[in-house]
Formats: sequence, C-alpha cells, structure tokens
Amino acid sequence: MREDIKEVLISEEQIQEKVKELGKALTEEYDDKFPLVIGVLKGSLPFMADLIKNIDTHIELDLMDVSSYGNDMVSSGEVKIVKDLNTSVEGRDVLILEDIIDSGLTLSYLVNLLQYRKAKSVKVVTLLDKPEGRKVDLVPDLAGFVVPDEFVVGYGLDYAEKYRNLPYVGILKPEVYQG
Ligand code: XMP
Ligand code: MG
Repeated sequence: MREDIKEVLISEEQIQEKVKELGKALTEEYDDKFPLVIGVLKGSLPFMADLIKNIDTHIELDLMDVSSYGNDMVSSGEVKIVKDLNTSVEGRDVLILEDIIDSGLTLSYLVNLLQYRKAKSVKVVTLLDKPEGRKVDLVPDLAGFVVPDEFVVGYGLDYAEKYRNLPYVGILKPEVYQG
C-alpha cells in the first residue's frame, strides 16, 4: 500500500497524540452529560475507536451511515441515510464524529437532522478539516488537523474502499486514481 502514497501528511504518532488531546477536551466538556457519540460510517471508525478510549466519562455510542449522491471524490449535497441511529437523540447532548469535512454538505445535513429531532445540543468533531473545499458555512467544534485541498486516504479515509486501514493519513499518487 505504501507505494501508492505520494506523501505521509499526518503520521501515526501525530494522530495518537492528537486523539489524546481531543479526548481530554471532550472529557471536560461532557463530564456528567452522558453524551451520545455518533460515528459516521465508515470513515470515522478508526478515529472513533481511538478517541473514545481517551474520553474519561460515561458516553453512549451509536453509528450512522449516510451516502451522498455523486461519486466518491465529489459530494453532491444530497444525502441519503443508509443506516439510521438506533437511539433517540431527543434531549440528548450529541457529538458527531467525522473523518473529514470537505464541502461541509454531509455534516450540515446531519446537524440539521439531529436538531430537527430535538437533540439538546449537537457538536461536531472531525479528525481532518479541509476548509478550502467548503460550500456551506460549517465550522467544526473541534478539528484534529487542517489539510490542504488534496485527496487524502488512510486512518478511515478511502479511495474506492481501499486504504482505510492505513495507520496514517497520506496523499495518494495521482496515477492511482487516474488509472
Ligand atoms: P463533505 O464534502 O460533505 O464530505 O464535507 C465529507 C465526506 O466526503 C469524503 N471526502 C473524502 N474522502 N479523502 C477521502 O477519502 C478525501 O480527501 C475526502 N474529502 C472528502 C468523505 O467520505 C467524507 O466523509
Ligand atoms: Mg468516502
């Protein structure tokens, strides 16, 4: 897999240090609030697994799978719920975990949906933030790293479902997706 990567953007060590820092901040923020932590499948799974081990207060977990119409590399803004929550968000403090915010369309849809379902609060933590890609005004409450406007893979992020299991985040060589 490594031979497909042009550059390691964020190392495994940097990620592990960051999840500790984010976990600490979330522990303080959600102490005694029993938040519902929602991972957005599938990209947030490695981040979710590592981050929650660093949150030192009670949390409840749930998962959602959404797909945006369009291809893998460009989000269209139209979001379809592929797997909904098992839990009611009404009156709950909700924390959404994402792998990356690019256009912001997926998350702004989700935040609106959970507010409509009467969550008490809805906050967003993303491992990666790509502000240059933004099409709607969405600012994460916490972000691990700001990344440039390039297609990145690893640590949950895929190209054609591959590379999610890399322990770091890297930039794919263009020849990999240009064929
Ligand atoms: P939006 O544009 O709605 O998109 O904020 C969020 C989703 O788009 C995917 N995405 C990427 N996936 N490398 C990826 O592997 C990237 O650089 C990238 N940029 C956006 C991703 O599925 C994310 O959840
Ligand atoms: Mg994807």
